[in-house]
Amino acid sequence: MIDGTPSLFVASLSNQRPAGIELFVEQFVREFAYYGSGKAALRDGLAGLVEPGENVLVPAYLPDGVAEPFAELGLETRYYRIEPSLAPDLADLEQRLDDETAAVVSVNYFGFPQPGLAELEALVAEYDCYHVDDNAHGSFSVDDGTLLGTRGHLGITSLWKVLPIPDGALLYLTDETVADRYDPSSSAGVRNGIGTVDCRFVASSIVDDLFGANGAVRRSIDALVAGRGDTPAVGGPRERYERGKRPMAKLSWDVLEDVDPDGVRAERRRNYRAWQEILQARDDLQVVFDSLPTGICPQVVPVRADHPEGFLAELEACAVDGVHTWPRLSSSVLDDPDYDTARRLSREIVTLPVHQQIDPAAIVDAGNRLVR
Ligand SMILES: Cc1ncc(COP(=O)(O)O)c(C=O)c1O
Repeated sequence: MIDGTPSLFVASLSNQRPAGIELFVEQFVREFAYYGSGKAALRDGLAGLVEPGENVLVPAYLPDGVAEPFAELGLETRYYRIEPSLAPDLADLEQRLDDETAAVVSVNYFGFPQPGLAELEALVAEYDCYHVDDNAHGSFSVDDGTLLGTRGHLGITSLWKVLPIPDGALLYLTDETVADRYDPSSSAGVRNGIGTVDCRFVASSIVDDLFGANGAVRRSIDALVAGRGDTPAVGGPRERYERGKRPMAKLSWDVLEDVDPDGVRAERRRNYRAWQEILQARDDLQVVFDSLPTGICPQVVPVRADHPEGFLAELEACAVDGVHTWPRLSSSVLDDPDYDTARRLSREIVTLPVHQQIDPAAIVDAGNRLVR
């Protein structure tokens, strides 16, 4: 059995050399703030920089909920096309930019650096707007000495996507003007004391451990745990955004104080390579990122499948949990044939778990059982 997410109750979080999140982040960025969710962090980061009626450009290959903070700020969300490599379609992006564009968002998909970033930065400079470096997926990814998420005027990361915590995100205020204009809302910071989110998360983790081997029980429990992230079954985009508008849970903070980012990264990289080794034998599957550059901490292994439904069924039969296609696109992207690449990728890309608690031997075992 390969679990889709790491458990709070497995003692592999910190190894012998606890470093803690602050020590890690402070190496790369001076100004940052905690939030319950990445979307809440996005809202607060932009609030002091934009006016209602302006627009923000985001890639079409993006979960539906990410536009919610922009809507709340009175911004129009404009989706730009992407290339099959996940790079922005620069001609399309430029065509959608105008005098009312407040910001352009780039995304480090699955913990890997955004391809085509230099060209996107040049456009942002030419049109004099803000650049948001969305690093929701790769909290511990360092590219050429720079922490992903800190390459724009502001950036975010969703810590809960790589760690067994009920919630947690960071807002990076990389640019001085952005930091000066930052006015935190009530969603910023860390909650005092243990609250209901913590209790629900702990309870579900315990049950998760007890019933870990039973897929059906696990799935119904997952559906009950409404507090954690973008579980597809739980609510619409607005509802999920509203739920994430809160400071980070105390339990998340306690875990983050002990976390060893280097250790987590090393284990995730090892598991990425184990999957890569197995999948290369299949000509119906293509790993999206062939190379795993030094410093990158993958969130998952994104794989393009010729027959995604069949591949998902195979994985389920091999007891690999937490696999799905990604993401759930916004309806305006789904309804518009202009976004054919994003739509195709959202149907074809299946994400495989690599989290730090998976034993690579379990990946090899699953690989041996995958139908060839
Ligand atoms: C690319 C991207 N950006 C932002 C977010 C929002 O993060 P959070 O769920 O922590 O609000 C997500 C969530 O899935 C995401 O995939």
